[in-house]
Amino acid sequence: MFNCTTVNDLLSGELVQKLSISYGTPLYVYFETIIRERARVVTGIFNGINIFPTFACKANNNPNLLRILKEEGFGTDIVTLGEYYASRLADIPDEKIVWNGNGKSLKEMALLSKVRYVNVDSIEELERWKDVAFKVGDIPELFLRINPNVNPNTHPYISTGLKKNKFGIPIEILESALKKAKESNLELVGFHIHIGSQITDVAPFYEALSQAVELSRKYGFRKINIGGGWGINYKDKELDLSDYSKTIVPLLEGFEEVVLEIGRYIIGPAGILILKVEYVKRTDAKTFIVVDGGMNVLIRPAMYGAFHGVRVLSAEQNEKVEVDVVGPLCESGDVLATHCMLEIPREGSYIVIENAGAYGYAMASNYNSTLKPAEVLMTENNEPKLIRRRETYDDLFRTII
Ligand code: LLP
Repeated sequence: MFNCTTVNDLLSGELVQKLSISYGTPLYVYFETIIRERARVVTGIFNGINIFPTFACKANNNPNLLRILKEEGFGTDIVTLGEYYASRLADIPDEKIVWNGNGKSLKEMALLSKVRYVNVDSIEELERWKDVAFKVGDIPELFLRINPNVNPNTHPYISTGLKKNKFGIPIEILESALKKAKESNLELVGFHIHIGSQITDVAPFYEALSQAVELSRKYGFRKINIGGGWGINYKDKELDLSDYSKTIVPLLEGFEEVVLEIGRYIIGPAGILILKVEYVKRTDAKTFIVVDGGMNVLIRPAMYGAFHGVRVLSAEQNEKVEVDVVGPLCESGDVLATHCMLEIPREGSYIVIENAGAYGYAMASNYNSTLKPAEVLMTENNEPKLIRRRETYDDLFRTII
């Protein structure tokens, strides 16, 4: 049931060569077949439950990809006006949009007052919605994000459901939040939880959700938003979806609607990053594979110490040796992989970074005045389609006056 097509099934050395020559490197490539299959796995798990699936477009905001997900029945989970703009470019209607965030500005609140759902992060935010409702009349349906104080066993930067994290309303003050909403004439439709990202154990999901379900019963809410956070297989472990469907899905029975906000699970394994090998630098201490993009194109290894598999396409020698794969930027943190066992690639050949579809391009930067890469979609017919051109130096300095 959960055996999806993988990039390995669709990617050949010739294809990498062809794409790199046609579009240049660094290059992000996504596979439509994989995106659609994984979107269907997500919706398929919730058999018998009325779901409102959204794609967390912080993971990837390319409107061409959002349009594919729209066809699969997904709306979007947005955090900013920029992500709203991306959703609009993909023709996602307001009624399919959920708005998250712990720092919603009054300007954003006025402009986004027509989206379907909002997850309210704090009592202070409720106060603001009261003012906005007074000024603009109709406002979105409101969920209260609760902080269940559950440890998701993921990287601390992407854990969100512990008391020390900035997100959500601690359960101890939930009563005050509900009271505040009532006094302000704000109608709440349910609770929202999202305890973090890249979670590979079912237990924390269960621990958080069972609290949210119990509270929903207590307060009579018929809708619930269960967030996202499903962990993918970067190295050796992923969320066990059959366990998830057995353990989590039954808790959701009886709800009128269940909102989902899934990002990484759908798009992460559907994307790769192709880089060109500039040269292999050997010192007494180490061997460095120097490639033409680093933390500017994929910051996850530098920022979270994240592991991404690396595939060498044309080896100079087949024996594997310990190497660091590094970018060309001016800091030592500019790494894509450290202490990994790889064949030594030929100068000028290409390497592929796996599982780069989520939080890859979305977190890319222009550091060292580098240009953001192009993005290509391999369609279901295996045709490459340019879905974002490479930046130019004019793009880079467009805002200078
Ligand atoms: N809902 C909320 C409220 C979120 O904050 C997030 C992710 C999601 C849904 C989607 O989570 P996903 O299904 O993609 O795990 N930049 C980090 C990940 C940050 C996640 C932020 N929030 C990384 O590269 O690992």
